Order: sequence, then structure tokens, then C-alpha cells
Amino acid sequence: MNATTATLSEILLSSSRCLAAVQTGHSLTEALVKLPTHLRPAVQSVAWYAMRHWGLAQAWRDFALSRKPAKPWLNCHIALSLLLLDAAMIEHGQAKEASPQTPLDKQCPRYTPHTLVDQAVHAVELAKLGKPASGLVNAVLRRFQRERHAFIKAVTNNAVAQWNHPAWWIRKLKANYPADWQNILRANQTPPKLVLRVNRRRASIEAVMSELLAAGHHCHALGENAISLEDSAVVTALPGFDQGHWSVQDLSAQRAAPLLDIKNGQRVLDACAAPGGKTAHLLELADIELTALDQDPMRLARVADNLTRLRLMSDKVSLRVADARAIEQWWNGQPFDAILADVPCTASGVVRRHPDIAWLRRESDVMQTTRLQQEILDALWQTLATGGRLLLVTCSVFQEEGEGQAQAMLTRHADAKRLPAPGQILPCAANARAPGHDGFFYAVFERKACNR
Ligand SMILES: C[S@@+](CC[C@H](N)C(=O)[O-])C[C@H]1O[C@@H](n2cnc3c(N)ncnc32)[C@H](O)[C@@H]1O
Repeated sequence: MNATTATLSEILLSSSRCLAAVQTGHSLTEALVKLPTHLRPAVQSVAWYAMRHWGLAQAWRDFALSRKPAKPWLNCHIALSLLLLDAAMIEHGQAKEASPQTPLDKQCPRYTPHTLVDQAVHAVELAKLGKPASGLVNAVLRRFQRERHAFIKAVTNNAVAQWNHPAWWIRKLKANYPADWQNILRANQTPPKLVLRVNRRRASIEAVMSELLAAGHHCHALGENAISLEDSAVVTALPGFDQGHWSVQDLSAQRAAPLLDIKNGQRVLDACAAPGGKTAHLLELADIELTALDQDPMRLARVADNLTRLRLMSDKVSLRVADARAIEQWWNGQPFDAILADVPCTASGVVRRHPDIAWLRRESDVMQTTRLQQEILDALWQTLATGGRLLLVTCSVFQEEGEGQAQAMLTRHADAKRLPAPGQILPCAANARAPGHDGFFYAVFERKACNR
């Protein structure tokens, strides 16, 4: 047992440092794993909440300060403290109405306004930034308590504060989805529920459900293979985890493997496999000879761990660290009957589960990943058997990475024929009855015989 209990000032200090890491291009996950374990759960909940409301937090900070402090950490700390103070004032009846951007969702960390201000100032002292910095934080927060309405009014026409995404992202979604952009942005700001995919080789959906219910987890079945949990839980502590009875996988991602329509005995390639969610699903569906590639050795090790836990490892599975584009380095010349190309993408469809993504991406990333995807697809196409299927998957909502990529594929490859597939799936928020789902794109191509 860990005897150390984190104080609120320590939580605020570490959260602000994690948020500052995101500003310099590091993912929140990367920043969180570096923290001492006793701080991690509380910092994660504060930092995720902040990322979902980061447009508003930064706009309020900019309204409060004529000049930003030079220290990135202090900048983030002021923005974060304003956001949490707003939530605290609503919770404790010190604010007449919730501001439109800060509904008190279940994930909102709850403190009293007095404690919050006191501990936010103390965090600056812990960071040894000196009296002027702690005085500044104190003054900004006290002003917010007095003038909250003015802060809210000041950002009413600020789209970034309203939608909590960068301006270029909002512009792009408006252009791509004139009727749906607001629903997409709203869905991105709602936390997802936990969804499991049952490993049909190890357990039935009925057996997994009864184990979960017996352990006190409210859950319900979604179709033949998926289960949605009502409340958040520590995944590794849920019944059936060690036994490999299920995997955590969003409903949209669960649609991938069946689209390849694989049969026993086929040679299948999973070209961008890590951490292996879809690799495992393929192996659950048929007795295949599977090659799983990924260029990242650390991530590929997670595929091995997952397949081992799910009891899916066998001599018919081979894991290779390789760049999918360099086929001469990993392909033995025997064509594959089916290829899963879950290519690297901006991940703009999974912002609800990784809210830092919206703040990590730059507009130029879209063009760069689109080019990388094209190179991977062109290399993989050469390894596909005539009559074989290639499934293009991205967890993105940007059209360049979805329909644009699929159309370009048909233009470059005269022997590619498009088969029916879901196409663009937009993210959908969870509600009391359904867990919602992530945004994904799916296109399936068959390789026709080509008369050259
Ligand atoms: C979207 S993730 C794959 C998710 C995985 N299919 C799953 O369901 O768990 C994309 C993966 O592509 C890998 N990747 C990126 N560029 C690659 C390349 N050139 N060749 C092979 N893998 C690559 C990344 O390391 C990452 O693990």
C-alpha cells in the first residue's frame, strides 16, 4: 500500500506540468507515466477535465492577463485554476448559472472555492516561483470570484473557448461536415464509457456478463460480442482480464476485423498492428496464418503481451518490427489473402478518449500523415494476392484521411475495386442508454486480375 497521500497543491502542480508538456508536443499519457504512482489517478482526472475545456481555460487566462508569464508551467496553472475555480463556484452555489462551456460532468474534480484558491497559490510556492508569481495567481483567482460574469461575457464570441478545439480544427470540420460539425465537437468533449469485446475463443458473452454483474459492475450487452460498462473501472482488476476473456475496444473499432471476411487457412497481414486490438480480433475470428508488423518495437511488444493474455499466441503468428513501406525488408514474396491497414493518422476521431489530441496536432500534420498513409498503402498493395482484400482504417474524421484517401487509392491502382464498407463513422457521445462510439473510417478494396 502507498502511504503517501497527495495534497491538492501537489495535484495542481503536477497537473499544470503535464499540461505544459502537452503544449510542447508530449502526449498526456507520456507525461502521466512519469509521475509518482500516488499522484497519477488524481492528476489524470484533473488534466483530462482541463484538456476537454482547454479552449475556455486559455481564453479566460488571456482575459485576466495583459501579458502572459514567461514560465509555461505558470501559464497552464493559471488557466487550469480558473477552470477548476469556476466548477467549484457552481458546485458550491457561488455562481448563479453554469457557464455554457462548463457543464459539471461526472468527471469534473470537485473542490470548495476557498480550498481551490488557497491550494493554487500554495502550488506556486511549492514550485518556488517566488512571491510575485503567487501574488499574481491569488489576484487573478480573486478577481474571477468577483467578476465571473465579465469573464464569461468576454469569451462569448470566441469559438475556441466555446468548442474547446483549435480554430483550424473547427474550420476544417465546418468545411467537411456543414450539418454535423457541432455534434462532432460536442461528442469529442464527452468522456467515453468502457466497452469490452468478448474473446469468443475463451468465453461467451453471457458468462462474461454474469462475472461482471456478480462483481457489482453494472453492464449491458451490445449485440453478440460487446459489453458496455456503466461506470469507470480499473481494467486490470475486472473479472476475466487475467484469463483473457475479453479486450477493451470501442464499438467503432470492433467493426474492423469482420470487414476482412477472413477464412480458416488464409495468410493475413496486420500491417500497423500495435497495440494489437484488431490483431487479436482477427485471430478470434478464424484459424489464420498471421503476420503482425509495426515499426515501433515497444508498441509491438504490447501486441505480444495482449496476444499472450488472450491465449492467442501460436506458431501461426509472427510479429515483425518493420516499416511497412520497405517491403523488401519484411516480405518473403508470398502474397497475402487479406491485409489490415490500420494506418497511422491524426486520431481526430478519438478525441473523446484522448482529449490532448486536439491540442497536440497542427494543421500541417493532416497533409503529412495523409502522405505517409499513401506510401504505406502503395507498398502493401504489392503484397496482396489477386482476389484478396485490403481494409483501410483510420480513426480520423478529416476527409483527406478518409474518403479522400480511398478515392486517391482507386485513382493510383487500376486493379483496385471498392467493396461495401461503412465509410466514415462520426464520433457519437455516450448517453444513459448507449456508450457512444469513436470516429473511424473504413474502406475495403479487392484486388482484381489486371490485363497489362
Ligand atoms: C492506429 S495505430 C494501430 C492500432 C492497432 N491496429 C490496433 O488496433 O491496436 C497505427 C500503428 O502504426 C504504426 N506505424 C506507423 N508508421 C508505420 C510504418 N511506416 N510501418 C509500420 N507501422 C507503422 C504505429 O507505430 C502504430 O502502432
